[in-house]
Amino acid sequence: MTTLNTNQDLDPTRLRHAFGFFPTGVVAVAAEVEGETLGLAASSFTSVSLDPPLVSINLAVTSKTWPALRRAEHLGVTVLADGQAAVCRQLAGPVDERFAGVPRVTTEEGAVLLDEGLARFDCTIYREVDAGDHILVLLQLHRVEHADHATALPPLIFHRSGFGTLQQPA
Ligand SMILES: Cc1cc2nc3c(=O)[nH]c(=O)nc-3n(C[C@H](O)[C@H](O)[C@H](O)COP(=O)(O)O)c2cc1C
Repeated sequence: MTTLNTNQDLDPTRLRHAFGFFPTGVVAVAAEVEGETLGLAASSFTSVSLDPPLVSINLAVTSKTWPALRRAEHLGVTVLADGQAAVCRQLAGPVDERFAGVPRVTTEEGAVLLDEGLARFDCTIYREVDAGDHILVLLQLHRVEHADHATALPPLIFHRSGFGTLQQPA
């Protein structure tokens, strides 16, 4: 039988470790605002609703990028592929270098989408909900495109504070 560590202490480090057992993909959230490309990496992406089409991300209230990024007319969300761990780290690093050498396209409404992603969503903000030390951002989708199922790379996986690969069943 699996032994669970049932320590009741909910300090942030313990919570981070516990949350880290839940594997996720990673998205790039990006837009052009007043001529500047802004964005960040987020592993908190979740699909929410088909009708209306909604997804969500959770962003730390301490984010310096979000207050500016949220002013964009449209936001781009790109699901990162296996092999884009370096891009992901770059998107979480120094603001000035986040998009250096990253192939991307900017839509007329300012959504920034990465060329090498698996799925790309053109979004606007549907609702922002205070959620403790994070803001739950619901995004409404306006356009979606995705890689070909037969030839798509596996997704980039974030698990226990590191990057991993999805083992496809044989
Ligand atoms: C794999 C990975 C996943 C991340 N996921 C999130 C996330 O879901 N929410 C969040 O607020 N920050 C997340 N971050 C951190 C942001 O990408 C960024 O570094 C942070 O918002 C600080 O930058 P800022 O002050 O410019 O916003 C993640 C970073 C990495 C490397």
